[in-house]
Amino acid sequence: MTASPDRLALRGDLLDFTGTPALDDAASPAVRWRPDHWLLIERGRIVGAVPGSQPPGDDWAREDHRGRLLMPGFIDTHVHCPQLDVIASYGSSLLDWLDTYTFPAEQRFADAEAAHAGSALFLDALLAHGTTAAAVYPTVHATSAEALFQAAAARGMRLVTGKVLMDRHAPPALCDDVAGAEADCEALIARWHGRGRASYAVTVRFAITSTPAQLAMAGELCRRHPGLYMQTHVAENRDEVRWAAELFPEARSYLDVYHRAGLLNERAILAHGIWLDDADRALLAGTGAHIAHCPTSNLFLGSGLFDWAAARAAGVRVSVATDVGGGTTLCMPRTLAEAYKVQALQGRRLSAWAALHAATRGAAEALRLGDEIGSLEPGQLADVVAWDWAHGPVATHRDRIAQAQAHPHALHARVFAWLTLADERQVAASWVAGVPRWRREADRTPQAAALG
Ligand code: GUN
Ligand code: ZN
Repeated sequence: MTASPDRLALRGDLLDFTGTPALDDAASPAVRWRPDHWLLIERGRIVGAVPGSQPPGDDWAREDHRGRLLMPGFIDTHVHCPQLDVIASYGSSLLDWLDTYTFPAEQRFADAEAAHAGSALFLDALLAHGTTAAAVYPTVHATSAEALFQAAAARGMRLVTGKVLMDRHAPPALCDDVAGAEADCEALIARWHGRGRASYAVTVRFAITSTPAQLAMAGELCRRHPGLYMQTHVAENRDEVRWAAELFPEARSYLDVYHRAGLLNERAILAHGIWLDDADRALLAGTGAHIAHCPTSNLFLGSGLFDWAAARAAGVRVSVATDVGGGTTLCMPRTLAEAYKVQALQGRRLSAWAALHAATRGAAEALRLGDEIGSLEPGQLADVVAWDWAHGPVATHRDRIAQAQAHPHALHARVFAWLTLADERQVAASWVAGVPRWRREADRTPQAAALG
């Protein structure tokens, strides 16, 4: 399962992006479509691609995934590891949901054994869903961040994480204090930031659960260690926005709370950003901070509809994220299909290209990791996933019809139908830096992974 030949060739339909598609352009020139090609990987890095009819020599290990999509692994820019325990919990909006389900569940991760088991389960689940890199929240416990870093290192995965900062408005068992949190962060940064594919993120849960003193400490960490990420939530829910305004009357807006603390920079990931105004969007664009749009979470918790067009018009970068357990799936195609519906509810249409870009190359660029992941460009680490075009009779039928069509946007029509109907059962295999880290049960036999 973890052996990696020095030279590996994967055959399939290659799909990635060479630029940024417009939000609604089905004919975007940024799409790179290479049906039936061999993707060539040497020592974990992509080195090129050649047509299926021209297989590389016998010194290449070959895997034939003909009739499957081969794409860059998805990048989930906002997801909570311990919340697999509460995914799909009934009946509340954000603040209730945190109190009723989430905070109790997160207390389990105080126990190192639970944190290690939970981290392994979570990262294996990401790989099984075709996601090879992520920005993840563990819990307030330093041990939970340590467990995630270790689990990601064992799998060779690109991971952005850091212990959650919370020193108020949460159960005592989940609250830290400024000095203790700073010491924990410094120790984790020294141990993990820049080690292999790990990056540390100063992880302010949200303005409501941090005192002004803790926010100031978090800003100081960002200044002290250039290159750190910062991740938090912003303007997700109207009651949350009202509470933030009460707690920080001096700030112009919820986003401005973070700006005043020195937390907005080009490595800042802000989840949701539903209830923002034009000045907020200008601030995001100016600082280079980006929004992780979380459609299944926003619909499930009834938080609101993210205005992607306004963000794009203001020059704000946007990635798409699952936000499990507020979100209802780790599967990025299902998440992107919901992103389409969130725009449809606002009278707009999101192309499959814009959606897929936001979970691959767009996410990588927003994270300033565009040199490492997000496309099938030579030089990139080979984080790659093989997807079936369809699962089950309805999707198979629909895909056959899409393949038979010959209009100018036929490829978009086929990929859009795939995106709308796909789920994780269609992930045949996931490679991380050229190493197969997950294979579907049916694809685990040597016959199934036949050489081409
Ligand atoms: N805001 C603060 N914490 C959380 C969380 O865990 N999930 C979501 N969706 N929003 C939050
Ligand atoms: Zn979240």
